[in-house]
Amino acid sequence: MRVFLASLLTILCLALLAMHIEPLRAQGAVFLGPQRPLDTTIKRGEYLARVGDCVACHTKHGGQQFAGGLPIPTPFGTLYSSNITPDPDYGIGNWSADDFYQMLHTGKSRDGTLLYPAMPFPAYTKITRVDSDAIFAYLGSLKPIHESNRENELRFPYSNRSLLIGWRLLYFRQGQFKPDPAHDAEWNRGAYLVEGLGHCATCHTAINALGGSSEDKAFAGGLIPMQNWYAPSLTLNREAGLGEWSLKDISDLLRAGASMRGAVYGPMAAVVHNSLQYLTDADIRAMAVYLKTLPEKNEAPPTAAESGAYQISARALAHGSALYTAQCASCHEGNGRGMPPAYPPLAQNPSIQMESAVNPIRMVLNGGYPPQTAGNPRPYGMPPFAQVMSDQDIADVVSYIRVSWGNHGKPVTVEEVNTLRVAPLLDSSCSMGVARGQRFPMRKPAVA
Ligand code: HEC
Ligand code: HEC
Ligand code: HEC
Repeated sequence: MRVFLASLLTILCLALLAMHIEPLRAQGAVFLGPQRPLDTTIKRGEYLARVGDCVACHTKHGGQQFAGGLPIPTPFGTLYSSNITPDPDYGIGNWSADDFYQMLHTGKSRDGTLLYPAMPFPAYTKITRVDSDAIFAYLGSLKPIHESNRENELRFPYSNRSLLIGWRLLYFRQGQFKPDPAHDAEWNRGAYLVEGLGHCATCHTAINALGGSSEDKAFAGGLIPMQNWYAPSLTLNREAGLGEWSLKDISDLLRAGASMRGAVYGPMAAVVHNSLQYLTDADIRAMAVYLKTLPEKNEAPPTAAESGAYQISARALAHGSALYTAQCASCHEGNGRGMPPAYPPLAQNPSIQMESAVNPIRMVLNGGYPPQTAGNPRPYGMPPFAQVMSDQDIADVVSYIRVSWGNHGKPVTVEEVNTLRVAPLLDSSCSMGVARGQRFPMRKPAVA
């Protein structure tokens, strides 16, 4: 009887509430008018801007949010991001929602100027009109910052924007996201987030000889130019393909930055820090569902490494093993299993065995921290070893972890270590504050 009464009360309350909400909604529409977006739209726009990680590129170190001016190094010179606050002179204060959508959708500024694809419009083209309007409403609600845009410093001929016409013909396909009816709503939500707003392919796609990322290479992995970080393939299980991971491990990795299978570092740590940690459970799960099903495109036959054909000298193995025991085992354990999620496992960790050894070498040289997130509020760090280990030491210890405990990576050379030791650390100043890592795919198209 009590239960019955309670539920009757609940139903009554809900009915009253509903009656109350209806007139309120109508009021909102009357009072705010079409020009002033509802707070809920602004809130939604704020969330979507997080997913799109606009702040990472449009905020310079120590600068005002969204006021632009962040230098983006490319092989062709330096680009500077734009002020996207609602300042009428230097920002987008005079833009309409139409202008804004056109820019995201076509990669052309309000006056028709072709934008460099360092602005990830090749992915943002998939953003829906509704989402674009919400982001625009959010940006419009911010304080205008009266700060002029800085001229790009690109070498000739890359400074000539008309070159982009050829690049666009070859590599840019405008279009909206089309849900795949063969999959459910959750998968499609994940696909929309990963391919569109999340612009994951900006880094996780190999650029071809002409400097464009092509559809069949989507998510195939590649070295990020100027940054010397390798963004692994999300489609090959032997790199970071997630086919064998549980949804929980994928979700933990994306949102907390650490999971039982591994931790994020480098530019991916910045993506988690600035963007992914703020996503809802439902959106993170949708991304995980989609990522787990990414087809294993072009799964190549096992490399020489995987079939065990690589040789490592007995000297390197002995020296690497001794260094590992002395310097690494305290955190990663003698058996390479680590103590996840605090200390990631190195055994059976695809990110240690990838064809490119850039990431493990850089981790040992420079150390690092996973991002600080709500799910991992006090991340454990890894110390840098550049000062205490020679190039030979690092080559040996990285070779050792790449071939031990069932790992099948290729041993690394002293030269590979040296190249990375002397490379400038372009992302060091902003590794946590600002997302680095722009594939900058513009090269002079051979056909133009
Ligand atoms: C990876 C870096 C990066 C990200 C992420 C990024 N932008 Fe940009 N954006 C740029 C760069 C660089 C430019 C300038 C391009 C040029 O000069 O051709 C730009 C240009 C723009 C412009 C054009 C300004 C003008 O005056 O023409 C707008 C508007 C803009 N971005 C909004 C956004 C929004 C909204 C987001 C998030 C949904 C976003 N950007 C995410 C790098 C980025
Ligand atoms: C700024 C460049 C960049 C962007 C954008 C980016 N990534 Fe990454 N990602 C990397 C790099 C570099 C690594 C290798 C370092 C690591 O494993 O943490 C990586 C690693 C990963 C891994 C493997 C992690 C592991 O430890 O095995 C996954 C999964 C991943 N990214 C998913 C995504 C998803 C999903 C998105 C879009 C929401 C995305 N990435 C956007 C650069 C990027
Ligand atoms: C004090 C503890 C500690 C020590 C000592 C240590 N590490 Fe780490 N290591 C970590 C932590 C924490 C991470 C995760 C860092 C991140 O995500 O940025 C890590 C990450 C790594 C990674 C990347 C793992 C991944 O998921 O891809 C490699 C490779 C690595 N360590 C190798 C080594 C080697 C080799 C040594 C010895 C020369 C060593 N570590 C010593 C704590 C340690």
